[in-house]
Amino acid sequence: MSAPLQLSRADMQALGERALAMVIGHHEGIREQPTTTSVSRDEAMRLVHTPLSEGPTPPAELLDLLARDVFPNAFRADHPRFYAFVPSPSNFVSAVGDFLTSGHNVFSGHWLASSAASQIELTVLDWLQRACGLPESAGGIFVSGGSMANLSAIVVARETRLGGHDPQSVVYYSDQTHSSMSKGLRVLGFNKPQRRMVATDDAFRMDVAALEAAIAADRANGMRPFCVVANAGTTNTGAVDPLPALADLCAREGLWLHVDGAYGAAAVLHPRGAAALEGLDRADSITLDPHKWLFQPFEIGCLLVRDARLMKQAFRVEEDDHADYLADVSRHIQDDVNFFERGIQLTRSFKALKVWLSLRTFGLAAFRDAIQVGFDVADFAQQWLEASGKWELVTPSQMGILTFRWRGEGMSNEAIDALTARTVDRMREDGYATVMSTILRGRPALRLCPIHWDANTDEMAATLERLTRFAEMG
Ligand SMILES: Cc1ncc(COP(=O)(O)O)c(C=O)c1O
Repeated sequence: MSAPLQLSRADMQALGERALAMVIGHHEGIREQPTTTSVSRDEAMRLVHTPLSEGPTPPAELLDLLARDVFPNAFRADHPRFYAFVPSPSNFVSAVGDFLTSGHNVFSGHWLASSAASQIELTVLDWLQRACGLPESAGGIFVSGGSMANLSAIVVARETRLGGHDPQSVVYYSDQTHSSMSKGLRVLGFNKPQRRMVATDDAFRMDVAALEAAIAADRANGMRPFCVVANAGTTNTGAVDPLPALADLCAREGLWLHVDGAYGAAAVLHPRGAAALEGLDRADSITLDPHKWLFQPFEIGCLLVRDARLMKQAFRVEEDDHADYLADVSRHIQDDVNFFERGIQLTRSFKALKVWLSLRTFGLAAFRDAIQVGFDVADFAQQWLEASGKWELVTPSQMGILTFRWRGEGMSNEAIDALTARTVDRMREDGYATVMSTILRGRPALRLCPIHWDANTDEMAATLERLTRFAEMG
């Protein structure tokens, strides 16, 4: 009997070639595909649900099913005309990196298991730390995404500044901060009075005076402020909080400064991004998601910490955790970097490979050019909307995002709100591009985030023409 989970070389070759052809087809043909397709739960059940069979199924049959019924029925967040949320403009080289990662199944939890792979991770982290202006002492880790990086940052901040859980402690963040921050804090046991949401100014940037007042009021009430979370590109509008002023305030008040640059921080590789992110180098910790504006496939987020030793302090495995099965590992690895001591996971995959492979393959200049596309196409959209006279900008093109509303002379705000929703629906039915709305100061606004490296102004113009036509339908 052959080993139960083995394929012959010929079968591996055939399966691999078929899968490769599917992925190449996806990358080559994506522009001709709709940006979003979805089916109802009933329809999805009909398409893919089966009992688990006792015997085998030919893998080619399964790939046919995936190609026909599964992959097409999804958001194509890597489509050049997917402008909603934060797109995930992937690239083929990184997809190959993911294949190599899972194909070799390197355990990237500690040095003994993955010495050279750990070094690749450290090297890529070093590139990112330097780009963000962090000192030699900095360190980091790749995690699943921004939510996990934000949560992990708070763990390091709390251990460092408070030595553990303190029901009087307070974290401050603006009303534009991504919901992963509130959620992470709740998961970590911070109750509502410990999660202080600070107002933003007209440009949706954290109001530093309001923050200062909140800190003073909390101190007067016996609370223990310890951390400020700043945005380096909010999800809603791309606004960057006043990082230099927040860094000054945190230094004065002895607070940890975490910067959520999940989507925006990668723009530091481009001079325009670096200028917008002035002060990033003063953060105690930074979230930067390669699966956003660094063009990597899901899942990869990154946490960078100004002093790497603090990560080990926060995520150490202690004597009385009784990790007896790690005793042999620990004997050998005292001075090495063990990623299980920098984050929550013990078993973790070699996520850094795809970032390393793509950055080395294309080179930094290509990535800089790729980031530039996002700035340029968003600028173009702003100019187009201003020239049309029919739309009102809510927030200008910044960090590759802009928001806007139908002017609708003589229409009430409520009527424009309803029209905004109808315009999004008509756009979705049309299928040419994915555009969605957000709520700003209580009112819906359309939002574009064209950060794909292959986005272009012609397709943006065609999208804006459609939006205008759909809005004019009333
Ligand atoms: C600013 C910001 N922070 C955090 C997140 C959460 O990241 P993830 O979805 O990778 O967990 C996002 C997601 O869009 C984001 O834009």
